[in-house]
Amino acid sequence: MTDPRSYIQTILPRNTPVAKEGRAFAPANIALCKYWGKRDEAFKLPLTGSLSVSLGRLGTHMRIRPADRDSLTLNGTEQAPASAISRRLFGFLDLFRDPGTALAVDSKNTLPTAAGLASSASAFAAAVLALNELFGWEADSDTLSQLARFGSGSACRSVRHGFMEWHPGERPDGSDSFATSLDADWPEFRIGILTVSNAPKPTGSGEGMKRTRDTSALYRSWPDQVTGDLPLIREAVRERDLNTLGRTAEHNALAMHATMIASWPPLIYWSPETLAALHRLHALREQGLPVYATLDAGPNIKLLFEHPSAHDLLREFADLQVVNPEEF
Ligand code: DP6
Repeated sequence: MTDPRSYIQTILPRNTPVAKEGRAFAPANIALCKYWGKRDEAFKLPLTGSLSVSLGRLGTHMRIRPADRDSLTLNGTEQAPASAISRRLFGFLDLFRDPGTALAVDSKNTLPTAAGLASSASAFAAAVLALNELFGWEADSDTLSQLARFGSGSACRSVRHGFMEWHPGERPDGSDSFATSLDADWPEFRIGILTVSNAPKPTGSGEGMKRTRDTSALYRSWPDQVTGDLPLIREAVRERDLNTLGRTAEHNALAMHATMIASWPPLIYWSPETLAALHRLHALREQGLPVYATLDAGPNIKLLFEHPSAHDLLREFADLQVVNPEEF
């Protein structure tokens, strides 16, 4: 097995700019069937498949230009070269560019910063889409997804809008591990972003999944959970069956959190407000409102529902940000 850079160089035709700049937008995505755990760290290969939906206009706009020196401007503010964010981004760009190719990166997130939504998936996907233009790769969507994966696993699901399934693949070089579109439309489907806390998460996803894998006895059952959930979720999206989708996605997210809580030291991403909001949601469901929840590695909740329920939900959760994935 080679290292990521050597592998990537075998599939890319060019590693120097052929255009004046590359510009792209990539949407954030929310997993309905979660990715939690890798079979290979360096190549960011997952243990299981996963399935997500994109967040419409919420994501990252990125512009990359050749320059005299590397620089990163994030939401209008230049970042120090030694900052964690600059090091992570340029470490990623090093996988693709020839040594000596300096780049100026201008990145803008349309994700509300306070919502605690991860911008890494949309940022790495936007970077790959922008490099595709700048370097003239003319790569197809499967290849772009594979390349984005090296930044953050979930970024492979952000190279296109809509419902995306990440196929875990089996090969050690990850050439069969990328996301494809379900090509499903669901005009009524909505995501509600419920921000209960904007404190930074204490343990990042990569570290959290490693700890879960290494120390949580419950994690052994996680691949079986995904094997059961993924086909149900895929089919429910195709059938526009909110109840099956919501039930399965909520169960999947809570099962993932159970594996996290059973780690040592424990990974408890929830705050008291998370639990309170879940209880309110369950009460609404008891009253007949078709609404479900999913949660990532943090305290905030994403509601899954259809357009006709938006009015009732906004009355209950005044700060809810409603997203139509098909509006972009
Ligand atoms: C809980 O893609 O951020 O959001 O591959 O280590 O960068 P790395 O992790 P990342 O993990 C996302 C985990 C999740 C579930 C999901 O999006 O599927």
